[in-house]
Amino acid sequence: MSPFLLTRTLPEDTAGADLRADVLAGLTRTAKELPPKWFYDARGSELFEEITRLPDYYPTRAEREILIARAPDIAAATGARTLVELGSGSSEKTRHLLDALPALHSYVPVDVSESALTGAAEALLAERPGLHVHALIADFTRGLALPGSPGPRLVAFLGGTIGNLLPAERALFLRSVRALLEPGDALLLGTDLVKNEEVLVRAYDDATGVTAAFNKNVLNVLARELDADVDPADFDHVALWDPEREWIEMRLRARSALTVKIPELDLVVPFEEGEELRTEVSAKFRREGVRGELADAGLDLTEWWTDAAGRFALSLATVGP
Ligand code: SAH
Ligand code: AVI
Repeated sequence: MSPFLLTRTLPEDTAGADLRADVLAGLTRTAKELPPKWFYDARGSELFEEITRLPDYYPTRAEREILIARAPDIAAATGARTLVELGSGSSEKTRHLLDALPALHSYVPVDVSESALTGAAEALLAERPGLHVHALIADFTRGLALPGSPGPRLVAFLGGTIGNLLPAERALFLRSVRALLEPGDALLLGTDLVKNEEVLVRAYDDATGVTAAFNKNVLNVLARELDADVDPADFDHVALWDPEREWIEMRLRARSALTVKIPELDLVVPFEEGEELRTEVSAKFRREGVRGELADAGLDLTEWWTDAAGRFALSLATVGP
């Protein structure tokens, strides 16, 4: 294997067909919604990186703190030779794991964002010329086929991105991850934790407006990919805590009555003044909830590590009996 391979596991046009299907279904419902994976074109991936540097957005710093402290434990517990990372983005934090895994042969970053994958791989290969990097442009909710590489495998899903899946999607997703694992393999899962509402809302509604730009970027994606007649300036960014479901919701709220037109889908979508489009949920977790969801998927929670302030958790899970 050459040191760098980039594989598109979906046909070229699948992303376009998926976007059309999601837009048709999501914008014609009574409660309008779009899945968050459409934030991440090249600009959206850059905006997410900016978010990770915001003082109010604590999850990235908290998870990095845990990774730095626990990477040696993760290496000892897993002996991983292949690190698969789902939703790898810039792979920034992953460096702490890569550095700690002495037997590592292959790194397999998986992401829908081609620009994030190529940027991350270029940087990693410059620093670690011996590492085999096989990047996959793929949707991790769509059943993954991993390239052949030596085991044991560690599948990492960091950043709290699992919280961006709805509960039923999470259950399916965790079962599909379980199906990738063989005895001796492990899952490393990052989850943001339930905490004070004010802290949570500030993390998703920062004063500088970067999160608002990230949220509105989904409208730029619709304009570019589907020729949608939509102006992001016609919408306000909204971040709300739902105490029942224990998740943050990001929404886009129409500033006045308007229509979004997408001629190629024969779609004219009316918005009333103040009507909202849900663009993301970001679920926050508790230890027993994580343990239960893993167990339902046939995975045993073997380690639970948090940062010193108890804001974020990393779980290590293995294949159950
Ligand atoms: N793991 C990184 C990035 C988190 S941002 C971190 O912790 O900082 C979420 C990442 O998941 C983005 O890079 C986005 O492109 C990717 N992503 C979102 N939905 C996805 C999906 N369905 N399939 C594959 N990648 C996805
Ligand atoms: C990628 N994901 C875990 C982020 C989150 O916190 O839910 C995405 C994000 N949305 C707004 N800010 C960051």
